[in-house]
Amino acid sequence: MDKDAKIYVAGHRGLVGSALVRELARLGYGNLLLRESRELDLRNQADTLALFQAERPEYVFLAAAKVGGIAANNSFPADFIYDNLMIQNNVIHSAYLNGVAKLLLLGSTCIYPRLAPQPIREEALLTGPLEPTNEPYAIAKIAGIKLCQSYNRQYGTRFISAMPTNLYGPNDNFDLDSSHVLPALMRKFHEAKVSGSPSVTVWGSGTPYREFVHVDDVARASLFLMERYEGWEPVNIGSGQELTIRELAEKIREVVGFTGEIVFDSSKPDGTPRKLSDVSRIHQLGWRHGIELMQGLRDTYAWYLANLC
Ligand SMILES: NC(=O)c1ccc[n+]([C@@H]2O[C@H](COP(=O)([O-])OP(=O)(O)OC[C@H]3O[C@@H](n4cnc5c(N)ncnc54)[C@H](OP(=O)(O)O)[C@@H]3O)[C@@H](O)[C@H]2O)c1
Repeated sequence: MDKDAKIYVAGHRGLVGSALVRELARLGYGNLLLRESRELDLRNQADTLALFQAERPEYVFLAAAKVGGIAANNSFPADFIYDNLMIQNNVIHSAYLNGVAKLLLLGSTCIYPRLAPQPIREEALLTGPLEPTNEPYAIAKIAGIKLCQSYNRQYGTRFISAMPTNLYGPNDNFDLDSSHVLPALMRKFHEAKVSGSPSVTVWGSGTPYREFVHVDDVARASLFLMERYEGWEPVNIGSGQELTIRELAEKIREVVGFTGEIVFDSSKPDGTPRKLSDVSRIHQLGWRHGIELMQGLRDTYAWYLANLC
């Protein structure tokens, strides 16, 4: 990508989009095309097309999406499938019609079957039933991958897709009703410390295994793939390291400095029992994560204290 190439970062205010903007700026890319959802609703086909016709971006990072934790996916399944299908359809079709040189779609490892062999290889896609709690969202993301592959096959486009594992970092969503597990725990432990509460309740049994990668690593991996990957198959982005929700809670308690008890509420859903991505494909391409979990948690808590408290 030339340093003056016009680059559209769809979803630039989000967790991933804002990290992409930081990384692009750090590397000297100054010609960014950015629109907030209130300026441009990407579910609107005509408005999306009009942006591409007017601005003619060369590269597109598709990080705009309706995203949320187990509770949000459970409560708003129709929004999660409709919004994500519409956003992907409109951006990918407009990119094709307006000669975009290359596009990167960001999906998620929740696209893989609930009981896929671990660690999860990209080849596990569409080999078994999905996790019910986020199936509508996962189906939309799978459709996005198939859109990219189909446009590549029919029109010779260069549309690639990357599947990050669970993310965390600056600009994450810390709203307890719609956030993912990591920011939710960080807020709960912080508020318990401040209020002097004797304990923090964690959803589920604490036994599920999860993998996390810092969003700045995901931004670097995304630029790495945009520069070097031409394959049609999705590429996992992860650390390849996992821990239980209990171990995660204990690490966040340590980072926040809370000294009280951790209580597990097993009446709440655990979600899929284990979700570790196989990152050998991106390792073979020459990329590895750089931010270890404890360092990432400390950075994120510092950001939380500086921005949300
Ligand atoms: N968070 C995770 O743990 C995680 C894990 C794996 C993969 N991912 C993937 O990473 C991508 C980005 O997720 P994220 O965590 O960065 O999400 P996020 O923080 O919720 O950001 C989503 C962004 O999408 C924009 N957006 C949503 N609906 C829109 C619409 N109708 N029109 C225009 N813009 C719209 C929002 O714009 P405004 O801010 O202007 O409203 C926001 O900037 C998603 O594809 C997701 O699948 C996320």
